Amino acid sequence: MSHDHHNTVDVSVTINGESRTETCEARTLLVHFIREQLGQTGTHWGCDTSNCGVCVVSVDGQPVKSCTMLAAMADGSDILTVEGLEGDDGLHPIQEGFMECHGLQCGFCTPGMMIAAKSLLEQNPNPTEHEIRDGLSGQLCRCTGYHNIVKAVQYAADRLNAQPEGAAS
Ligand code: FES
Ligand code: FES
Repeated sequence: MSHDHHNTVDVSVTINGESRTETCEARTLLVHFIREQLGQTGTHWGCDTSNCGVCVVSVDGQPVKSCTMLAAMADGSDILTVEGLEGDDGLHPIQEGFMECHGLQCGFCTPGMMIAAKSLLEQNPNPTEHEIRDGLSGQLCRCTGYHNIVKAVQYAADRLNAQPEGAAS
């Protein structure tokens, strides 16, 4: 809803399963809204040119570079960030994969990488190495050379595919 006098908007979202409404400036980017107003600082902000991918979150199931979207545009949406990956039964298979396969070093790219990987596996549960590299091509990592990231995603795919039907989340 618009507040005409101050050029602010109320934005209501579900973030990692929790309903939140906050007022922000109309021009506030989703990445800043998530970090500063929703307090979910796991999502990183790494560039002014929308090419690093560290800000990727899932908006209504779709991976989005949250530095390219206004918070106001996300009104009413269901957002998943890295903080929402871990379930009641422990780490998400993608998180396990990154740990087991050493898919991170400094960790700066990791939150966006994990959300992008989750979306990739939802669209393609059995990706080839090429498909993983292609699917994550919008995510820059300065540390790992990507090899272990690919391994981590393959690990997660194996784990998710081994789960009984319907148990994957
Ligand atoms: Fe670099 Fe969004 S912060 S792509
Ligand atoms: Fe450092 Fe990817 S682990 S940027």
